[in-house]
Amino acid sequence: MNQTQDTAAHYKDSSKLAVRGGFHARFSNISWYDWVENRLNLPNGVRLLDVGCGPGWFWKSCTQLPADMRLSLLDQSAQMVAEAAGRLTHLNIVDQVVTDAMKLPFPDESFDIVTAKHMLYHVADASVVLEEIRRVLVPGGRCIVTTNSPRDLPQIAALSRRAFGSAIDDIVQERFGTVVALDLMRQRFADVTQQTYEDMYQVDDPIPVIDMLSTMPPGDKADAAGLARLEKAVQDMMVAHDGVIPMPRIQDMISGVRRA
Ligand SMILES: C[S@@+](CC[C@H](N)C(=O)[O-])C[C@H]1O[C@@H](n2cnc3c(N)ncnc32)[C@H](O)[C@@H]1O
Repeated sequence: MNQTQDTAAHYKDSSKLAVRGGFHARFSNISWYDWVENRLNLPNGVRLLDVGCGPGWFWKSCTQLPADMRLSLLDQSAQMVAEAAGRLTHLNIVDQVVTDAMKLPFPDESFDIVTAKHMLYHVADASVVLEEIRRVLVPGGRCIVTTNSPRDLPQIAALSRRAFGSAIDDIVQERFGTVVALDLMRQRFADVTQQTYEDMYQVDDPIPVIDMLSTMPPGDKADAAGLARLEKAVQDMMVAHDGVIPMPRIQDMISGVRRA
């Protein structure tokens, strides 16, 4: 299986994402969804495309959306799009599109805002997808992306390296972490701004850590010996921190405006 097939299999439905979501829900002190919603500033009548919408948990959590927002959902997973649309029946969903984001099946200048949250590190070429986003935005429209900071959850990456020899975060950072994201956004959008979400998890239970690392790459393909190394590494880290591991959770939202 190549990386594209791996990503498609991982996100066939929301079950693996839900394990990560459970970890964050348990230990976060500041709601990421609320934090993002408070910074979207959506105007009335906005035509918004969400690229890589996933199961729609973010939109479901929103409480201040303009009533006349026209929301287009796009994801490469048919089950994700169906799940999102099923969850968001209270919103005006005008498109439900199942396709690879590398080619957006919309005419030029169709949207006021395009979001791509925590997904551009998965695509074959983030530059191509950003060009597509630029094309479908109206002049003056906004592209909003989110991704993990290089300072995000360093203990999770360290545990993955110790147990499995590598960490998915290294690939995330190389493909579309904050540094790369800022560079690619500045190459094609004006008024690029970065806003940083910072939380500090106090992780006092090894089980959610083990569950998360064993359901995301590379732990999702680990053999019994690898999983045993993971359990030991997590237990050792818990003991070294007297039972509570402080983990910085740091994510970035970067937005830019399409020039006229
Ligand atoms: C980490 S989830 C993020 C979901 C949602 N945006 C959020 O922030 O909660 C990544 C999503 O991107 C989708 N995705 C990955 N590669 C894609 C591609 N090439 N084209 C379209 N969607 C893709 C996955 O199917 C998955 O639903």
